Amino acid sequence: MSTPRSDRMTLVAFMQASNVSVFSGSWRYPSTAPDYLDLRYYQRIARTLEDGCFDLMFFDDRLAIPAIYGDSVADAVKYGARPIKLDLTAILGAAAAATDRLGLGATYSTTYYEPFHVARTFATLDHLSGGRAAWNVVTSVNDAEAQNFSVDAHSEHDRRYDRAEEFIDVVTKLWDSWEDDAITGDKESGIFADPEKVHALHHRGEFFTVRGPLTVPRTPQGRPVIIQAGQSGRGRDFAAKWADLIFTGDPSQKAAAEHYREQKELVAAAGREPDSVRLLPMVYVIVGETEQIAKEKEAIFLNELVHPLASLTLLSEVTNHDFAGHSLDDVVTDELIDSVSGIRGLVQGVKRHLGDQPLTLRVLANHRATLLQGPRFVGTGAQIAEQMGQWFESRSCDGFVVAATHFPGSFEDFVRMVIPELQQRGLARSEYSGTTLRENLGLERPACAFTAATHEVPAGV
Ligand SMILES: Cc1cc2nc3c(=O)[nH]c(=O)nc-3n(C[C@H](O)[C@H](O)[C@H](O)COP(=O)(O)O)c2cc1C
Repeated sequence: MSTPRSDRMTLVAFMQASNVSVFSGSWRYPSTAPDYLDLRYYQRIARTLEDGCFDLMFFDDRLAIPAIYGDSVADAVKYGARPIKLDLTAILGAAAAATDRLGLGATYSTTYYEPFHVARTFATLDHLSGGRAAWNVVTSVNDAEAQNFSVDAHSEHDRRYDRAEEFIDVVTKLWDSWEDDAITGDKESGIFADPEKVHALHHRGEFFTVRGPLTVPRTPQGRPVIIQAGQSGRGRDFAAKWADLIFTGDPSQKAAAEHYREQKELVAAAGREPDSVRLLPMVYVIVGETEQIAKEKEAIFLNELVHPLASLTLLSEVTNHDFAGHSLDDVVTDELIDSVSGIRGLVQGVKRHLGDQPLTLRVLANHRATLLQGPRFVGTGAQIAEQMGQWFESRSCDGFVVAATHFPGSFEDFVRMVIPELQQRGLARSEYSGTTLRENLGLERPACAFTAATHEVPAGV
């Protein structure tokens, strides 16, 4: 069945369960709330997002304090360059309790976690939230994460994706291991569930051995929504095969439009309906009552609050490369880029975007929280809605992952100033149409792969 392209943007709020937003100096901003260790902080933001009818509250993750720069956590800790990352399960549970319709997404690593654990976590969240769970599938980024999970170094790029392929295959089978109508709960007869409809996997693969079934029955969405944000060739192929939502990081509309076209072709080549998969670029939004106010805010976040060492620390972190031996004025050469093993595509993207301008480490570090992963939309609500509309209408995206300068003010401003402008243009909803996240996204509920004539383990679910 063909899915028509929605005439409404998909809106995702990009959240960090941390002392900072993606802007590493944000903890110093006067109206940044300091209570990020209190569950009410997350509940308040979730309610704001639901008031604005966002599709999804999404949390990123990293499994280590930044430690690549100078082989030490000292600068990250000293300058508050994201030394804190809370586990996301409890936070999403709290957000679920405070809302009714908002989707709830978290990042879990296929490199350092186990499929049974991840399948169980998201199935549980899907039940408790009434069908609002989403999993961002990442392969993780650097050696500091590896070293917290009994491994010396982050494994090689394509091996990580080999493992991710087997991982997600097992997770989706576990989610399907209880058929939808397995539980009858017949108190009279004493029969709780039909064992014929609860399936073991007996999976034996290269990376995992999983007997199954899952300890959680099939969930309201059938399968929680799958998010993927890989930018490499392997990452894009993986996303084309598995993702419902694809997060991208392109610095310009031209790059985003090209990426959009290429990725939709990959989705079609994977045998899926291109418009059933949403491409959502990350965008940094800074909104003000006037353009002047927005620009002043931008200058504060980019120039005044960030310590250069905090930027370098985070740059080392995403590239998995220790820049401690370099001066800020060193030129970033092609050889240097080739030696980077983390998110290499991000550095290449900035270099392409700058064209002939020399790329020094200072420039790269300053772009770390901005150009690397998306454009910056700065201005009044109307100006921002205009830009977002242009991207959407020109098929450069299906919606956005909106990054905040600070919490909770950024999303409060966005809902107050940008959402009404998008609604007026018919680009954002003013009420939720469905109950589950899949329904609100207009995505089909996947059929259970085991609900077939045969009760064998299905191949290639
Ligand atoms: C919007 C967005 C959010 C991301 N969030 C995370 C994250 O939370 N954790 C993570 O390890 N990587 C995150 N990434 C990075 C990608 O998931 C992916 O790991 C990275 O691009 C490396 O994969 P690649 O080599 O296929 O590009 C994010 C990327 C984008 C564009």
